[in-house]
Amino acid sequence: MAVRLISMASEIDVETKSAKIPRVKGIPFVGSTVEMAKDPAAFFVRAYRDYGPVYQVNVFGRKQYCIAGVEAAKLMSTKKGRDGLRSKEFWQDFVDHFGASKTLTQIDGEEHRKMRGIMRKGFSREAAAGQYHMLTEIGDKSITRDWKTGETVPVVEAFQYMIVQMIGEMMSGDAPLDYVKDIRTNILFLLNTLVARVRPKIMLQSPKFKKASKRVDELGEKLIAQFKAYADSGELPDNLLGDVYQAHIDDPEFVQARDLAVLLTGPYVAGLDTVANSVAAATYGILKTPGVLEKVQAEADALYAKDTVTEADIRGLTYIQNCLKEAMRIWPIAVAQMRTTNHDLEFEGHIIPKDELIFIGTSVPHFMEEYFPDPYKFDPDRFSDERREHMKPGVYAPFGRGPHSCLGQNLAEVLMGVIMARLFHRLDLSLESPDYVLKTKTAPTPGPAMSFSVKVNGERHPAKPLIPEVLEE
Ligand code: HEM
Repeated sequence: MAVRLISMASEIDVETKSAKIPRVKGIPFVGSTVEMAKDPAAFFVRAYRDYGPVYQVNVFGRKQYCIAGVEAAKLMSTKKGRDGLRSKEFWQDFVDHFGASKTLTQIDGEEHRKMRGIMRKGFSREAAAGQYHMLTEIGDKSITRDWKTGETVPVVEAFQYMIVQMIGEMMSGDAPLDYVKDIRTNILFLLNTLVARVRPKIMLQSPKFKKASKRVDELGEKLIAQFKAYADSGELPDNLLGDVYQAHIDDPEFVQARDLAVLLTGPYVAGLDTVANSVAAATYGILKTPGVLEKVQAEADALYAKDTVTEADIRGLTYIQNCLKEAMRIWPIAVAQMRTTNHDLEFEGHIIPKDELIFIGTSVPHFMEEYFPDPYKFDPDRFSDERREHMKPGVYAPFGRGPHSCLGQNLAEVLMGVIMARLFHRLDLSLESPDYVLKTKTAPTPGPAMSFSVKVNGERHPAKPLIPEVLEE
């Protein structure tokens, strides 16, 4: 009886406290869908300012809890956040679509730790060790193909090809450039309908999606056949896809045959939009902001004055890396992280009930004057050793927070470093007009609009190949 009384008391408590969670005012039926779809980052900041760190919002036909700000970002990395939140529901439909048993993004707890363990090395920056000459050469091939002098280049698409080629060569020894458009369409439809759920599922019946989906399945089958052949001849390569295939051989119950297609094409899904959007945003910031381009060029030219480039050299591109950090602050690809509550979750004096979908607005502090003065100004020096504005706890989280934070972060940083340095070393670029203001898209991943283009005014330096780095055993 005592137990029941305590339990009733806690139910009442939950109801009264959760009733106090403010609801964001919106248009009848539509709620905040339009505002959120237009500019999700601005929406989360506005709602945080108006309602505080916990609020409820009506979007895309569902009621959704949101927590935001520095405390919400910090919560993600605590035991309370790890135990209290799961990823499963947001990714379940995606997993089911592929007929798989799991993906890294959809599992939690011990299973998730185990899968991250399998993938950690392949997604780390060591995956690029000794390959900077090859990555630079891919940059050059991509420049020759897609960035011709005198032409106007759609930046996001050109970077999508460049990053797919880099990831493909690194992880499977081959670049599936013929599949880039299919991968892009596949991601667009699947993330919009099944993960973010901002579009109806009926869209998956469209011929455009079906064609792209068939092609991506075909790519998955090709990769499985390729890696099976390597395994049969005892020559599985030492890279992410090799590690995943080896884990399938070692533990076929955990990495099941039906999981292989989605796991082997996973790096493209994880890397294509994220990297292309971030480097495109950085390109805009660099070309738009007075005084930045010259510093980027000087650093890039100093790098490529060397005959051999190493990881330390790429990580030493302080100013270029600061431009990338600043681009990811102003144009984060993950405005909020999406989770479900495992139990009634107390946060900032409120209780979010069990099994509720919840957005965690980790990017909100990116736009707060308190942490980043003049927050909409592109100012790479915020990240300099003197200022270190991003170092306050919880204020900067472009790669997410907590157990599901980006596994490819370090790899992404070095790849983006090579892309930016080679591009600005090789080419004289400018915006289409100096007063151009960046147009953005919100789906499937927020970032510069596909229409964002730059002019290639000419070549600054020729494509001199690098001498490969000799790695010590
Ligand atoms: C600028 C580039 C990138 C950004 C900003 C970025 C950002 C993110 C974010 C915010 C998450 C967390 C999502 C969540 O918690 O729900 C994430 C997860 C992930 N990212 Fe990245 N990412 C980038 C590039 C890459 C690349 C190049 C790869 C690998 C090729 C990669 C691999 C992953 C993986 C595997 C996960 C899932 C981790 C897990 O669920 O445990 N990312 N990324």
